[in-house]
Amino acid sequence: MKLNENYRNLKQNYLFAETAHRTAAYIEAHPDQSVIRLGIGDVTLPLAQSVVRAMQEAAAEMGDAATFRGYGPEQGYGFLREAIRDYYATRGIRIDADEVFITDGAKSDTGNITDLFAKDNVILVPDPVYPVYVDTNTMDGRQIIYADASKENGFLPMPDPQVKADIIYICSPNNPTGAAYTKEQLEAWVAYARENHALLLFDAAYECFVEEGKAARSIFEVEGARECAIEFCSLSKTAGFTGTRCGYTIVPKELCFAGADGEMLSVRQMWLRRQTTKFNGVSYIIQRGAAAVFTEEGMAECRRNIEYYKENAKVIAGTFDRLGVSYFGGIHSPYIWFECPFGMESWEFFDYMLEKIQVVGTPGAGFGANGTHYFRLTSFGSRENTVAAMARFEKMMAEKR
Ligand code: MLT
Repeated sequence: MKLNENYRNLKQNYLFAETAHRTAAYIEAHPDQSVIRLGIGDVTLPLAQSVVRAMQEAAAEMGDAATFRGYGPEQGYGFLREAIRDYYATRGIRIDADEVFITDGAKSDTGNITDLFAKDNVILVPDPVYPVYVDTNTMDGRQIIYADASKENGFLPMPDPQVKADIIYICSPNNPTGAAYTKEQLEAWVAYARENHALLLFDAAYECFVEEGKAARSIFEVEGARECAIEFCSLSKTAGFTGTRCGYTIVPKELCFAGADGEMLSVRQMWLRRQTTKFNGVSYIIQRGAAAVFTEEGMAECRRNIEYYKENAKVIAGTFDRLGVSYFGGIHSPYIWFECPFGMESWEFFDYMLEKIQVVGTPGAGFGANGTHYFRLTSFGSRENTVAAMARFEKMMAEKR
């Protein structure tokens, strides 16, 4: 028996496991302190009432012999795939319901999709980057190259024609920096992918935070993207499903690549084959709740929650404006990405904040070398905690100066 040696190339802990571990150790040593968590992007508002009602009704159906359901379709129920198709149509984007795959979230899918790709593909990711893209490709032993994201390019790297990559991950609005590409900028990435027979993996998990008309919400807004892109999205941030788990992946029928023998293979067909073999679908109850998100009432309720988080982002941004702390994000995104004060490195600043003001954030170094001197805060906390955290932050800054 041989183990997958590639695992030895991973950092010892997944980023958020490491921050949780350090936080738990601090709380154990200081049980009387009140710690505010603005680290992992986990929502705090409850599910929309229309979503809860839909789940309750679905649960009742499952308890009645006349409406009970066993295994569902691996790709997801038609009612949900059609609701997602219609959601895209309201934004002028055409997708077919059979191009939508319902899953337990974008994190799983951005990792699982690597099953379809040969090990010798070159992977291009921005630095800083959501660690799942790097870790899952490291597990498979693929070569990973980086596109520098920095304050000079607004944390939005553009394609370099000299760099040859086979698979490119784009997360926009971006985790962790909060920067969001415009449609025109994404056109350049689509052109690069088409010229280089490369594949774009577009993570749209934060699309619902985009200010209308100011940035792209889907790669499929760009003409030609159907031939070179897969889109991942999640209800985690759109509708507070971080604990409930439901997302979707869109694989267009036009997306085909040549096999080693030159035969054109459909990526959608391969993903369907993969999912029907390895996945038994998301539960009926959850899919009914997810479908309620896309109703008029559900959309309005979810929108209110998103506005609440956006207001929290303004509380953080307003504090930083007053203090002269330079930051990115917070407009099309729940994340605020800022330079660590006092010339500190990010893990040092993580420990410093925890110790001094009991506020947990996420160290930029966990997202890549370019994050070494940066730090991320989330606006997914409660208003009360966000305001309290900023008051503590302001005091910390005043005392150090
Ligand atoms: C984050 O904090 O980066 C996200 O919550 C992680 C995720 O969505 O998996």
